[in-house]
Amino acid sequence: MILIKTKAEIEKMRAGGRILAAVLEKVAVAVKPGVSTGELNNLAETLLKQQGATPSFLGYGRERGTPYPASLCTSVNEAVVHAIPSADHILQEGEIIGLDIGCWYEGLCTDMAVTVPVGKVSAKALKLIKITKLSLAEGLRQVRAGTYIGDIGSAVQNFVEANGFSVVRQLTGHGVGKAVHEEPAVPNFGKKNTGIKLEAGMTIAIEPMVNEGSYKIKVLTDGWTVVTADKSLSAHFEHTVLVTDNGYEILTQ
Ligand code: MF3
Ligand code: CO
Repeated sequence: MILIKTKAEIEKMRAGGRILAAVLEKVAVAVKPGVSTGELNNLAETLLKQQGATPSFLGYGRERGTPYPASLCTSVNEAVVHAIPSADHILQEGEIIGLDIGCWYEGLCTDMAVTVPVGKVSAKALKLIKITKLSLAEGLRQVRAGTYIGDIGSAVQNFVEANGFSVVRQLTGHGVGKAVHEEPAVPNFGKKNTGIKLEAGMTIAIEPMVNEGSYKIKVLTDGWTVVTADKSLSAHFEHTVLVTDNGYEILTQ
């Protein structure tokens, strides 16, 4: 079932999304060579708490028997998403890191991700980050009551492939708000005019995951970390957005 949020629910998501964006911005600024991914996670937790928000990833998946053990995902280089932060994982100059975070605020949740360089990085890594960020913008441009889920994926895929990269297919964006993951799935590939029709009041997380090489991925033995099968670099950007009659509103900003 796809939920349509009420005005009151949207207001709470807007407030939570604003907190989330401010927290993620501060965490992104803290990324430097020599910093551990565990420190970034601690910073994210502290900042969320200070704002009256609760991490939504911590403990996620406990029904499946593998609860996510942190509040932030810190996906370095070939890690696509869901990499677990650790005090032992020290960032090195030249790496790129995806920072993914979600929070609960007054009973509603929002979800967001960015990818940033660690110090000075290669031109190719910068291009991957830029194209991934722009692909999210391409997807967003399709969002309006009356367009289709497939319009988003088609726009993201066309843009990414035209720039020589590939989109991950086994993971998708999703509805979000009353749960971390709600219906519908929001793929980053597909065809125009396919899938469900968007309606005003839907809240969805659009999150292109873009690989330098093949779109194929695998999951490491920790049960969470998703990496590119060919070890090529991967980048990820995500916003939680509200579908409106005339377009969309980014709730995580
Ligand atoms: N933003 C992530 C996603 O939509 C949420 C991951 S839950 C976690 O896939 F537990 F893995 F962190
Ligand atoms: Co998400």
